Amino acid sequence: EAGNGRIEFENVSFSYEGEPVLKRITFTCNPGDTVGIIGSTGSGKSSLVNLLPRFYDVDGGTIKVDGQDIRDLEPKQLREKIAIVPQKTTLFTGTILENIQWGREGATFEEVEQAAKMAQAHDFITGTPDGYNTRLGQGGVNLSGGQKQRVSIARALVRNPEILILDDSTSAVDVATEAKIKEALKAYAKGLTCLLIAQRITSVMDADLIVVLDQGELVGYGTHDELLKTCDVYQQIYRS
Ligand code: GTP
Repeated sequence: EAGNGRIEFENVSFSYEGEPVLKRITFTCNPGDTVGIIGSTGSGKSSLVNLLPRFYDVDGGTIKVDGQDIRDLEPKQLREKIAIVPQKTTLFTGTILENIQWGREGATFEEVEQAAKMAQAHDFITGTPDGYNTRLGQGGVNLSGGQKQRVSIARALVRNPEILILDDSTSAVDVATEAKIKEALKAYAKGLTCLLIAQRITSVMDADLIVVLDQGELVGYGTHDELLKTCDVYQQIYRS
């Protein structure tokens, strides 16, 4: 299984109703890399990652995963490779267990527990009245924003993907816990490729690569140290 999860964007363009939001974006993520995506609000970060699970299709260019154009993959293959935690997380009325299993109903309790441990959710879950059988939502327990985000990350991990996309999914999680989640993802057995959108620059500084977007254009691509030397937009974000 090692060596899967390569992502290639080649000249990718995308627009909403004729309004260009991504302009000729080219970059590559190697298997197992953590790639940070940063840029001001409206720069196109969510649009970029939403192309991977084909929520939308490109207008121009190609996106390849493991060498194959994603438009040539069966929906099932795409779902097996890529898991996304969208910016707006949705949990439903049901138990924590059911919420994590959603999308992979066959997951065993052990698999759910392991995913929750990686997402740093296990400890607070076992602290709820009925643990994994605690009901959420109407008539049940209300989780904090950061706890909901961690359950959503566990939901993505239980699918055992090759590529994990976190769209601002740790914004409500404290910095120390976020660091533990990232450590766990690095240690993931399959060598997970991780795309990480963040507002906090500290969330992406240690990534293998950072993609900097500005008004739909890729204006920087490199490590933190490289970008500090070469990318004005990155410097501005770093200083602000
Ligand atoms: P933040 O999430 O605020 O940090 O922004 P982002 O960098 O993720 O940008 P995003 O990809 O969400 O948006 C890029 C541009 O596309 C912005 O100008 C948005 O207003 C626009 N946009 C986003 N979603 C839609 C949509 O569903 N329809 C239309 N017409 N425009 C959209």
